[in-house]
Amino acid sequence: MGELRSSQWYSGNDRNAYIHRAWMRRGTPEDSFEGKPQIAIANTASDLTPCNAHLDEVAQHVKMGIWEAGGVPLNMPVVSLGETQVRPTAMLWRNMSAMATEEMLRANPVDGVVLLGGCDKTIPALLMAAASVGIPAVVVPGGPMATGTFRGQALGCGTDVWRLSEEVRGGELSNRDFMKSESSMIRSRGHCNTMGTASTMALVAEALGMVLPGLAGTPAVDSNLLSGSHETGRLIVEMVAQGRTPQELLTRESFLNAIVALAAIGGSTNAVVHLLAIAGRLGVELSIDDFDRVGSSVPLLVNLQPSGRYLMDDLHRAGGFLSVLREVKDLLHPEALTVTGEPLVSYLDDARIWDEEVIRPRGNPLLPEAGIAILRGNLAPGGALIKPAAASPHLLEHRGPAVVFDSIEDMHARIDDPDLDVDENSVLILRGCGPKGYPGMPEVSNMPLPKKLLAKGVRDMVRICDGRMSGTAYGTVVLHVTPEAAAGGPLAIVRTGDMIRLDVVNRTLDIEAEPKELAGRRPSDAAAEGYAKPVRGWERLYVDHVLQADTGVDLDFLTGASGPEVSRESH
Ligand code: FES
Repeated sequence: MGELRSSQWYSGNDRNAYIHRAWMRRGTPEDSFEGKPQIAIANTASDLTPCNAHLDEVAQHVKMGIWEAGGVPLNMPVVSLGETQVRPTAMLWRNMSAMATEEMLRANPVDGVVLLGGCDKTIPALLMAAASVGIPAVVVPGGPMATGTFRGQALGCGTDVWRLSEEVRGGELSNRDFMKSESSMIRSRGHCNTMGTASTMALVAEALGMVLPGLAGTPAVDSNLLSGSHETGRLIVEMVAQGRTPQELLTRESFLNAIVALAAIGGSTNAVVHLLAIAGRLGVELSIDDFDRVGSSVPLLVNLQPSGRYLMDDLHRAGGFLSVLREVKDLLHPEALTVTGEPLVSYLDDARIWDEEVIRPRGNPLLPEAGIAILRGNLAPGGALIKPAAASPHLLEHRGPAVVFDSIEDMHARIDDPDLDVDENSVLILRGCGPKGYPGMPEVSNMPLPKKLLAKGVRDMVRICDGRMSGTAYGTVVLHVTPEAAAGGPLAIVRTGDMIRLDVVNRTLDIEAEPKELAGRRPSDAAAEGYAKPVRGWERLYVDHVLQADTGVDLDFLTGASGPEVSRESH
């Protein structure tokens, strides 16, 4: 073990070393300081983050592994974000969580960190923090929950809420029965069981090399999660001894591997902003175009909701994530390393598919091309995303008149108005939902369809928004439109009745109007007045400094690394 960072606090016989050791004895053995790696367990367990509430138990198993390998474990509760609970949207707080974790890792005598996350924003925030600090770090994903059933049918968290609520609005399901399904939706500890953002980010973290290979996707109730946590505890001590940092592991090649994985699993569009933000912390060159260039020709192999049929415990039973990666091994960069120091590809040869309905072999994909497409045009000069796998094929090339909503509230107030001039060819546009406009870029892009069209049997329409979409959602939704309306993007000048042309094959998104006519337009009143104007606290800092979706929605002063050194102290 070389010189440890924590020795700056603990070594020597002066007054400061005395203070640092004395207060941290806590009943630990005398030799718990000098020469012993101090390992933080950044723990997002919280009763207000139900998907992560079991992480205290996971932390106990990580601790055992750390002690066993000669390290000293230190539980470090960090900001936790419950996706379904946090207002106005969990994404507003992702950067705050990342910043707080980064600063606490820097401020404290720690040599390495185990990152315990699960619910959507928690793994991204932890990875952003660890990437900036640059001490050895490894993720333990908390794992998906067991599948619940309603009337004998498996329920996909999120995806089936959207489906059932649309059935209520369409008159096919009574509200009473819908309410009955509530107690069947969440059956156990763990995060959402669809290929939503939490599942996606757990698997993507493993593709990046930041998880013990084979652990991501292990169900939260599975004892293998606890044994994997124990092993991870041992591993982080070894990583500290070897000086294996995120800077060594998170190379451009790792991110490109993550993009391949994202496409093969049919992962959430939210992974785009999270991966861009993590790369931004490391100075790794990554752009939204990489997602299209590298990912869009990758076949969809995982038959999970919302793109397919099954759920996360099916994926685990069918062979797990490594067996998916094995099918696309030739597309992966072989030099990209994992937390073990071995390349990711070295873990793939033994992986097997046990159920080819859930994990499709390369020769029989669910879709031949599955990744995220990046659109550009006079409506989205900075780019916009669409996930063709979750869209209706007949709408991927579409021309229709815009029906514009200035805010979520405006949309809710008018969407079901029987007099709203809308039909199945209309293009629903929702603005004011970007990083600055809302603020926090909420998951609202998959706006509900007008009731009168649902009653006619319409189940999908083209929708365009500067916000995000839940990873559990589906539909022909163009999202992350950049620049957003509140940042002066053309979305602010589009008017109801404008003809909109979407062409996913050619990657374009345009308002059909003369450039001169568009140049002469004023933004809508709402956009001209500005959207959010927070006067204090985090929201104000956020609105003043948040970047657009095409670079990951981080704060401008948080990109890049801070490093582990903090030389001053007050004693
Ligand atoms: Fe936590 Fe879905 S609400 S993962």
